[in-house]
Amino acid sequence: MSNYFIEGGHRIGGELAVHGAKNAALPILAATLLCENSILHNCPSLSDVEAACHILEYLGCDTSRQGDTVSVRWNGAQIHHNIPDSLMREMRSSVVFLGAILSRWGEARVSFPGGCELGPRPIDIHLAALRKLGVWIEEDHGYLNCRVPDGRMQGCELILPFPSVGATENILLAACLAKGETVVRNAAREPEISDLAGFLNACGAKIEIRPDSTIVIEGVDSLARQVEYTVIPDRIAAATYLCAAAITQGELTVTHCEPAHLAAILPHFEEMGCRVITEEDKIHLQGPGQLLPVRSVRTMPYPGFPTDAQSPLMAVSTIAQGTSIFIENIFENRYKHVSELMRMGASIKVEGRVAIVEGVPALHSATLQCTDLRGGAAISIAALAAQGVSEITDIKHIQRGYENFDKNLSRLGAKITRSR
Ligand code: EPZ
Repeated sequence: MSNYFIEGGHRIGGELAVHGAKNAALPILAATLLCENSILHNCPSLSDVEAACHILEYLGCDTSRQGDTVSVRWNGAQIHHNIPDSLMREMRSSVVFLGAILSRWGEARVSFPGGCELGPRPIDIHLAALRKLGVWIEEDHGYLNCRVPDGRMQGCELILPFPSVGATENILLAACLAKGETVVRNAAREPEISDLAGFLNACGAKIEIRPDSTIVIEGVDSLARQVEYTVIPDRIAAATYLCAAAITQGELTVTHCEPAHLAAILPHFEEMGCRVITEEDKIHLQGPGQLLPVRSVRTMPYPGFPTDAQSPLMAVSTIAQGTSIFIENIFENRYKHVSELMRMGASIKVEGRVAIVEGVPALHSATLQCTDLRGGAAISIAALAAQGVSEITDIKHIQRGYENFDKNLSRLGAKITRSR
């Protein structure tokens, strides 16, 4: 089990190119099942991406990587319509393969995706939508047996009770080859949804994303046999590295990013006293000598403040001069990093969905445990500013979503090492 050792007190500065978006690459990899030969550029090298490739290989594809380009080629050697429990559990978001498998073969057997550190991860919105598209779904001892009795799904109107990202992705993957038109209302609007639609449209699908959270999918009979596509930059990784600069009074430029995707995040950096300048594909941030608190950060579906950036920004707020308030509206259990931050001397009180952070003059090092992907990034950010050397265990969580996390931080001035 690898651990990080981080000596605090070193400024994070310089320039860093942001890797491709994990949460765009994963549904797009599922979508490659609908093509015979896909080439994906800017595909991040992450354990979650590896897990998605393992699922593709089980389903009959060959995958290969050259730098940040991943190629997926259907080999037809073996036909599986199921995803074994072991592979489903390797990556929680593998439920997004369900829509693609049903589009391709009209039948699927997957195990219920496990819950995760963020709490139970229900898929009721996914299943209700698929049933309305004509999928017969039987729940069988922790497995879902799914079948499209007519062989092809039938487009319909869907109104989502919540703009679920994963459910919206499954609907795009299922409806793009359905008979007729599907209209999705109250759909998720995250940039990763647009990127999945962009990939599918590059394959010949007809998906229109409207500004009022409506998506119209006109089912087509088939998609192109081959496609080449570039994944969008990872907005959460960009925000995470900017947090590292903010908490260490550093000066960092993140490049190859999309500033517009961070529109709900950047004002909070300015509120904390950071100087933020954006250019076409760059964001430059200079951390202040003394951080100010954030009055209130409410996590919301896009274009609101993203839940994935809540814990990294909270880490920064622990040493602000004043009280910051966070309201986590998306997941019911996304404060597991709080107890780890408190081991470093942070003063945080959690009441249900609300976390109240009283800034302290300084954090001290501690032995810390990653509780989840973004929580692990958050305690690493806090350790960069803590007095002394912190040890961080279970860093496999971080490696799921951040490419070369320790190497990047080290190159930007951090004193960070990784045990073998
Ligand atoms: C995606 O998860 C992301 N994961 C998450 O990023 C991100 O935090 C989340 O969207 C919100 O933006 C990937 O894209 C792989 P949801 P997803 O369906 O699709 C409830 C990270 O750190 N819900 O929008 O699972 C659900 O319980 C990860 O990179 C239902 O109740 O998010 C949650 O409370 C963490 N029923 C809320 O909706 C359903 O059928 C948001 O879930 C589906 C969801």
